[in-house]
Amino acid sequence: MRIQIIGFGVIGQGLARVLLRKEEELRQRYGLEVSVVSITDISGTAHAEEGLDLRKALSVARETGAIVNYPGAKEMSGVEAIEEIEAELVVEATPSNIKTGEPGLSHMLAGFKAGKHVVTSNKGPLALKYRQLVSEAERNNVEFRFEASVGGAMPVINLARETLSGDRITAIEGILNGTTNYILSRMTREGLSFEHVLREAQELGYAETDPTYDIEGIDTASKLVILANAIMGIDATFSDVKIRGITRITPEAIRLAKERGYVIKLIGEVKNSHLEVSPRLVPETHPLNVDGALNVAMLHCDVAGEVTVVGKGAGAIETQSAILSDIIAIWKKVKG
Ligand SMILES: NC(=O)c1ccc[n+]([C@@H]2O[C@H](COP(=O)([O-])OP(=O)(O)OC[C@H]3O[C@@H](n4cnc5c(N)ncnc54)[C@H](OP(=O)(O)O)[C@@H]3O)[C@@H](O)[C@H]2O)c1
Repeated sequence: MRIQIIGFGVIGQGLARVLLRKEEELRQRYGLEVSVVSITDISGTAHAEEGLDLRKALSVARETGAIVNYPGAKEMSGVEAIEEIEAELVVEATPSNIKTGEPGLSHMLAGFKAGKHVVTSNKGPLALKYRQLVSEAERNNVEFRFEASVGGAMPVINLARETLSGDRITAIEGILNGTTNYILSRMTREGLSFEHVLREAQELGYAETDPTYDIEGIDTASKLVILANAIMGIDATFSDVKIRGITRITPEAIRLAKERGYVIKLIGEVKNSHLEVSPRLVPETHPLNVDGALNVAMLHCDVAGEVTVVGKGAGAIETQSAILSDIIAIWKKVKG
């Protein structure tokens, strides 16, 4: 299967590394031979009909920070690469933008228009334009999968839609942002202030230089919108979510909660078509009380009851579990 990678940062490069590592295994287990025919970042596009040398692409990215330095690469944009280069599948891994969805939105739409399947880790376009994206994919008769856009390596979307396909999911609650969970976990364990832990998390690279999306609950809200649409069939968008972040949580509030056997967690919940992100009291013994940077989702099912899944919400390699599972699912479907 010929694949194009758009966005060659943490996730794009992680995919290249995992494809190299699993080349033989994918062939043996699934008869899947992946050929990455193009890689695009903001600098341009590297392209080879017979498949790029992924080791070379990784070393170019590592040493120069720009894929345009790959031999023969051009200053070609993502949309141009999708329109002009022959391939079956696009992996879209550019930064998430919750204001416009761009550049990912244009890449995804260009992919569908060109008759290409799309796999993405980019939540922005989905949180803003879920219905449009899904209907464009359907209209063009291509697959659109996005397990990595929620919870990185935590397999919640495919679990709900495929394994639990006989159930109706009536509500979803979860911790969908690792950075805020890391901050709250350390505040709880060490009695430190929000500002202190945030500063340390930034120094250690666990939190972004601009942590607004995480600490204000925006990242969690984007993922909640995707779950509401993809799992519960609710036609919601980002502006439908009631959002409160964790910036006002004090060590005192955490201590008082602890004395009563609770922890404070940033919970995203969809229930009765209502979407909300807010800090909540969670009993210490409850399955949603997961520590550190982990993510967790509890699905309330009409047959299975409660099903909880816990996993790593991010990571260059871990997130490839989700991306690979989507690529393999598409491969199985198209090869018949
Ligand atoms: N990191 C994770 O663990 C993780 C987990 C789950 C989901 N995600 C999501 O996956 C996506 C990628 O994350 P990341 O961590 O890999 O981000 P990243 O390291 O910032 O990489 C983004 C890549 O996209 C490129 N890019 C930016 N604008 C572009 C454009 N207009 N056309 C083509 N390429 C463009 C960047 O190029 P330059 O470097 O040249 O600017 C860079 O190669 C995001 O949407 C993120 O939310 C990430």
